[in-house]
Amino acid sequence: MSRPFYVTTPIYYVNDVPHIGHAYTTVAADVLARYRRLKGDDVFFLTGTDEHGQKVEKVATAAGETPLELADRVVTRFQALWEKLEISTTDFIRTTQERHKQGVSHLFAKVLAQGDIYLGEYEDWYCTPCETFWTETQLIDYKCPDCNRPTEKLKEESYFFRMSKYQEQLLAHIEANPDFIQPKSRRNEIVSFVKEGLRDLSVSRTSFTWGIPVPGNPRHIIYVWFDALANYITGLGYPDEGGNFDRYWPVDVHLIGKDILRFHAVYWPTFLMAAGMPLPGKVFAHGWWTVEGQKMSKSLQNVVEPNMLIDKYGVDAVRYFLLREVPFGLDGDFSHTALVHRINSDLANDLGNLLSRSTAMLAKYFGGVAPQPGEATELDSAYRNATEAMVLQVDRHLSDMAFSKALQSVWEVISAGNKYIDETAPWTLAKNPAQRERLGTVMYYLLESQRMVHTLLAAFMPTTSAKALACLGVTGISGEALFTWGGLAPGTIVQKAEPLFPRIDTKEES
Ligand code: MSP
Repeated sequence: MSRPFYVTTPIYYVNDVPHIGHAYTTVAADVLARYRRLKGDDVFFLTGTDEHGQKVEKVATAAGETPLELADRVVTRFQALWEKLEISTTDFIRTTQERHKQGVSHLFAKVLAQGDIYLGEYEDWYCTPCETFWTETQLIDYKCPDCNRPTEKLKEESYFFRMSKYQEQLLAHIEANPDFIQPKSRRNEIVSFVKEGLRDLSVSRTSFTWGIPVPGNPRHIIYVWFDALANYITGLGYPDEGGNFDRYWPVDVHLIGKDILRFHAVYWPTFLMAAGMPLPGKVFAHGWWTVEGQKMSKSLQNVVEPNMLIDKYGVDAVRYFLLREVPFGLDGDFSHTALVHRINSDLANDLGNLLSRSTAMLAKYFGGVAPQPGEATELDSAYRNATEAMVLQVDRHLSDMAFSKALQSVWEVISAGNKYIDETAPWTLAKNPAQRERLGTVMYYLLESQRMVHTLLAAFMPTTSAKALACLGVTGISGEALFTWGGLAPGTIVQKAEPLFPRIDTKEES
């Protein structure tokens, strides 16, 4: 039976429309999901929308609609974008769905019944946009340390989660599982935060109504992060036993942005500990995108709209750029110049040319039929070894969420292919009938290496990879054979490839 693999993205707020920040996490999760499916794993890939809370309530009121009307409208924007980006989700959860509300109530009631949630009173500084309470010492000039906006002092009856009780257990878990929080720098931040001491956490609000009521005391609404985080289990059908929850929990990896790490690496694990459930395998916090050197924000009107990018450059170019340009844990800058440069150099020149050159030569010299390779020279073996090494490197990099490094490993083999053509000079071999077998070997190595390249690229650029593999005549191989040298059978009919990526005229762009 195949191995279960469960990957999630954050669920996105519906008070904002999707931008490249959202697309980034979702594409990364999609690459993992597709890669694991290629390897034969049984993948569950969950994304969705976070639809409750005061912010959504406020934005809806301002727009003259109910929160649910707002959510219904915005959710389609996310779903349409994911479709356009070829995101291969297993399920899409909305926190307003009945299955989610029931699961959250169940989880809350369970922790309440065992005494780790209790009723108390809260007085602290509250940042409405961030929906976060702060202690006075955390404030900077009485402003929110996260968003720098004014906070207000609020007192309210509230349910509290005994987070303090789990401080040592959480530290011990982080200690014993070095990969639990990644990247390492972020892990260190969390360790320091927890060591400063965990306070009990307010997990209900009475100041607004748009949310899931506390079981047995509906004047209280369950805190939006308790509600939102639980999507990762309600999406698997929690609390129902015997189904997806049993099969896929604990999650292999939660992919998130660095701004929401504390919720995922402190709150969520302690909720799970209280509920007696196993903790996530890994929480990975990626960096943030700026745009042409500036913070992306509505007020600066520089929000990068993924639909526009896809229409202009194509879906695979966008997917490639997002994951190649910046190491996953670091912040990065988006610019059209950088995107166009990547398309022209990596995609059109390196990747596309290699396939066009090889398939055109095959058509010319062998009538488009993959030849039988003869004895390998050192040059051939080095090329084959590099190709086989790539498979292992990509695997290792993807298990570290090093998407950019994985792509670099693939591109090393693509460059090696272009160099191999220059070094073997098939056009010279073709002139000499005595070199016919040698020419066949070179052509076979070129095609087979690219078959393996495009097999791996299926995770990153599904449309391009499918086009290339169709040209290479690859059908009907699966499992280990996909990643093993020799998958291309001699005698296969190979089509001459159209350019995979047309070059973009940079003069026109600027
Ligand atoms: N609803 C919460 C998450 C709940 S998960 C249980 C939320 N939603 S969000 O829509 O505001 O943000 C979702 C994700 O988008 C976060 O992971 C955040 O890091 C990411 N990004 C928002 N802006 C971003 C950039 N400029 N760059 C990269 N990612 C960014 O938080």
